[in-house]
Amino acid sequence: MCGIVGYIGQNQVKEILLQGLEKLEYRGYDSAGIFVESSVNDYALFKNSGRIQALREIIPAYIDGHLGIGHTRWATHGQPTKVNAHPHLSHDGRFVLVHNGVINNYRQLIDRYLTNIQLQSQTDSEVIVQLIAKEVAQTSCTVKEALRRTCDKLEGSYSIGLIDIQDDKTLYIAKNHSPLLIACGRDFNGICSDVMAFVDMTDQFIEIMDGEIGILTADAIYLEDQSGKCVKRHPFTAQISREDIARGAYPYYMLKEIDEQPAVMRRLLQQYTRDNRIVIKKDILTMMEKSDRLYIIACGTSAHAGYIGKMLLEQYAHIPCEVHLASEFAYHQPLLSQRPLFIFISQSGETADSRQVLNKVKQQGHRIITLTNVASSTLSREADATLLLHAGPEIAVASTKAYTAQIAVLALLAKAVGDYKEINETQQFDLIHHLGVAAQAMDVIITQKEQIEQLTAQLLTQQRDAFYIGRGKDYYVSLEAALKLKEISYIHAEGFAAGELKHGPIALIEQNTPVFALLSDEKTIANMRTSIEEVRSRGAYVASIVLEPFAQEDDTFVLPTVCQALTPLVMAIPIQLIAYYATLQRGLDVDKPRNLAKSVTVE
Ligand code: M6R
Repeated sequence: MCGIVGYIGQNQVKEILLQGLEKLEYRGYDSAGIFVESSVNDYALFKNSGRIQALREIIPAYIDGHLGIGHTRWATHGQPTKVNAHPHLSHDGRFVLVHNGVINNYRQLIDRYLTNIQLQSQTDSEVIVQLIAKEVAQTSCTVKEALRRTCDKLEGSYSIGLIDIQDDKTLYIAKNHSPLLIACGRDFNGICSDVMAFVDMTDQFIEIMDGEIGILTADAIYLEDQSGKCVKRHPFTAQISREDIARGAYPYYMLKEIDEQPAVMRRLLQQYTRDNRIVIKKDILTMMEKSDRLYIIACGTSAHAGYIGKMLLEQYAHIPCEVHLASEFAYHQPLLSQRPLFIFISQSGETADSRQVLNKVKQQGHRIITLTNVASSTLSREADATLLLHAGPEIAVASTKAYTAQIAVLALLAKAVGDYKEINETQQFDLIHHLGVAAQAMDVIITQKEQIEQLTAQLLTQQRDAFYIGRGKDYYVSLEAALKLKEISYIHAEGFAAGELKHGPIALIEQNTPVFALLSDEKTIANMRTSIEEVRSRGAYVASIVLEPFAQEDDTFVLPTVCQALTPLVMAIPIQLIAYYATLQRGLDVDKPRNLAKSVTVE
């Protein structure tokens, strides 16, 4: 959601900005722009609504300049128009700014400080650059001081890149509750919302902490904290390479990421086991053991993985567990147990809804574990401990390999805690073996893509609605299946607990309504068969996806056998492929669905 790129260095900046923005496209956006500080071209500021290609079309082939900022905007305040796109220019034409985040008090700031200034856009972001320009004009303070004074007035979240047009050697930055990193190269310094933007140019990045502001030149970095004290921080090495983010021969990242899932399972086994034992840090095991109730906090797909995690943690670690959507928990905190432990699940580690809850429960003094795919992410940094997903960069907006990695890590955690607590039943369960079997089963399903493609064409062509039904873990997978389908194919989809059909949803079934029935939970197969008959007799077109031991001749797709704990891992593959093919068959962009962002950094 929104992407920032900035550069000051020896090279021509235009292409660096555009290519950096292209690498951040996956975050989701609906307009884009760049500014190049140029001695030749007057005001080299270009913005356009739509994709970066549309921006490229209005930019001259050559712009001389070594300092610049670029931005992809995901609209919050004001429509995704050219005028609302970033960078924003101050009324006096001196300052140019890009901003990620949300300024909650922007209306008050306009009323208090900017009534005599004609704002160009409807955005909250423009207010920042106008305040900076006004501060410099009225008090003749330094730009850094104006930036500090302005930041002190802002309520909300921001990461900022700022250029003073009168100074072609300096890039100003500020950050608060919105991701921003410094990219350090041999002959340049840059800024970016995530490491992808500079992956071709460096693997050295510096974290910026909330409340800090900074000044970058081509060969120096100055950072200071909120009190004005200079901060020295060493770069970290990003564990990500150009190959990791290459699409290769795949038409879409989503398909590549679906195919990578068996390899991710094997990588997790490598990362989390030694000598046929699960290895999880002692402090995590102790935190878990001491807790009397776990609170999983997550959004979207990560929450769906959390529901499955809850079942696994209760079964194998014997700790009661609740799952909460972060956006709900933030405002309606339930009564907590005596010794709560919070587990935040987030692929990106940047989701604002989750971050808000994390800040709150941290202030309350509770212990926090994060499961995330990005080691240097905010949620990871702010937790007491992190379990990494090791899924590799996930670029398609629709989460696939991170989802199965989340389930697998939760299973490993549940088993490790159960072993630590010497729970007999858990000690009998050979998760390492079963995870290896699940990886193999995923491989097999991936070779059967064509069958899923045909099934999808048969069931979903021309359909406006689709339903998924399941019980137990399959119910939670049905929620994920429906989310996957609706977010990329725009087919209205719902997941239902099959037992609930007769309490309402069955009224929706008409002639040929597609219903995908998920059957892998041995305790509920007989009931699921009844639910299938109930919807079929009301006209539904049913496709049954069934675990091999429970399959009948007329089932639609049969999944290889895996242990009961890990059925969601194999069920995930067909449901992801159904969403993928339905989207492809509608001629839509699989990786970049409308209105959605990969990293949801606003509440
Ligand atoms: O990065 P997170 O896991 O915190 O993201 C949470 C959701 O925004 C995310 O899972 C979203 O639902 C996906 N687009 C679903 O495919």
